[in-house]
Amino acid sequence: MTFPFRKIFFASSLLVFTLPALVSSEVELVDPVSIDRAANAMVVTADPYATEAALEILEAGGNAVDAAIAAQWVLNVVEPESSGIGGGGFFVYYDSKSKAIVTFDGREKAPARAAPKMFLDEEGNPLPFYPDRITGGLPVGVPGTLKLLKRVHERFGSGNLRFEKLFAPAIELAEEGVPVSKRLAEAIQEEEGRLRQFEASRKIFFHPDGSPLRKDDILVQKDLARTFTKIAGEGIGAFYEGEIARALVNTVKYAPVRPGFLERTDLAFYEAVERDALHGTYRGHDIFTMGPPSSGGVALIEILNILENFSLIFYGPTPDSFHLAIEAQKMAFDDRARHLGDPDFNKIPLKKLLSKDYARKKAQSIKFEEVKEMDSPAEEASLSALGNTSHISIRDSAGNLVSYTTTIEHVFGSAMVVDGWGFVLNNELTDFDAEPGFEGLSGVMPKGHVLASAVPKTLKPNAPGPEKRPRSSMCPVIIFKNGQPFLIAGSPGGSLIIPVVQEIVTNLIDFRLPLEAALSVPRFAARGSAVEVESDFLKDSGAIDNLKRRGHRFVLRKPFGNAQAIAYEKNGGTFVGVSDPRGDGSAKGT
Ligand code: GLY
Repeated sequence: MTFPFRKIFFASSLLVFTLPALVSSEVELVDPVSIDRAANAMVVTADPYATEAALEILEAGGNAVDAAIAAQWVLNVVEPESSGIGGGGFFVYYDSKSKAIVTFDGREKAPARAAPKMFLDEEGNPLPFYPDRITGGLPVGVPGTLKLLKRVHERFGSGNLRFEKLFAPAIELAEEGVPVSKRLAEAIQEEEGRLRQFEASRKIFFHPDGSPLRKDDILVQKDLARTFTKIAGEGIGAFYEGEIARALVNTVKYAPVRPGFLERTDLAFYEAVERDALHGTYRGHDIFTMGPPSSGGVALIEILNILENFSLIFYGPTPDSFHLAIEAQKMAFDDRARHLGDPDFNKIPLKKLLSKDYARKKAQSIKFEEVKEMDSPAEEASLSALGNTSHISIRDSAGNLVSYTTTIEHVFGSAMVVDGWGFVLNNELTDFDAEPGFEGLSGVMPKGHVLASAVPKTLKPNAPGPEKRPRSSMCPVIIFKNGQPFLIAGSPGGSLIIPVVQEIVTNLIDFRLPLEAALSVPRFAARGSAVEVESDFLKDSGAIDNLKRRGHRFVLRKPFGNAQAIAYEKNGGTFVGVSDPRGDGSAKGT
């Protein structure tokens, strides 16, 4: 499908831009955009089955929290490569009655036996990221999703539907089977080599003759149905302390590839945490998002604070405004690498990083005609940006809002399924910096062992460590304007999540695009010295030449992000839901 971006942009802008727009007249989308308008409730998720399940829960008297939980379990069934009970997430909630915004941290934790040098090889070099570091037992963190959602449900569920009941749609789909989506089929193909290494994974994602499941094949997950049924019957203790915990720990400890250090005590002691919401402002809007251990919210607010010093609406989507955003992104990523990690282990200079004054100085350092050279600590990142992680945005009829991003990290996480229980384990610990010190480390480690004693002097804030949460980039947001909801959004994409969410925000607020266009236009990301771009971004050769003259270098990436968003329309009484055209999700309202 093609999307007439330029027409929409000009029709919806307040200004007429005379400079060449840095977008092609036709933006190629991966799939048709799913869009709906409503005045009562709205659900947007990465999969139509999850959206339907959430709507059923709302229909049955549940609220946005109940609906999000049911959608999460269905995503575990239909999108097992992205999220589920083997992973973790961040939940941002607006309670319409108390008008409170609360955030919950269900981030995976490193086991007690993890250590700073756990991802270095015998020579002290980081294990190659793909596939070595992300595959097998070593990168598996203690899953947080179940404890997170149990806690959110206890605090803010409607009270009309018990937690156990919310598994029902997922159990049915896992038991009866669902057609493999295009995205899941591609994910299996992409990760075939990793999945094949583990018998329990082969059993689910390959046919008995060894061929991988293809689009529209029926994916039946009896083991996962049994797991959900057991948890629904016995409570989440069955997962954290019972039979499932034992199987999970054994899967990690006795993994045929890079065994990990997880123990049953790690699971038993895990807790999800309620944290203060991170707050920032941007051109009269209030932004509420997740604070550390996610870097997503801090980086988003820092970029926006820097951009607030420039009139982006005056520049329009031209090389000038793209140059400013690229430079702002680079500076926020630099701060992210230097300062952000688990707040329970680091003193993070949050006040400074979020201050308008700090951003003003950064803005003043931007030169219009040349790029700023940075000596940032290198960014290592998963490039598979569409299929990893998932986002759920919900508005219920009472006006409660959920913005929930959930993940098992890479596509298919560690690639390991817990045998007999049918769920994929995360590789979240690879979100730690593999190289734990700022200045590099040398030294030899005995094979297969991690030396807790060999700790470098200048540990990075995101160095691996016992019971630490790896730094995330997930960035679920709820944005208000004049005290009224304005936007609920989030996206997958590893650390590309940060530019994806920021560009949606600036597309809406600065360029006044409708939500479907804000999600559709070509994306760019400056995490390091090069600018990563989707192919359509490169189509306006005049604009690209302009940016190249300033010193920008471009790297082509596959489409990134799979945002799920709800925006309120001007009258405040209706809202529009949009699922990213790069994915095959669904927005549906009532
Ligand atoms: N694993 C993706 C993130 O936490 O940012």
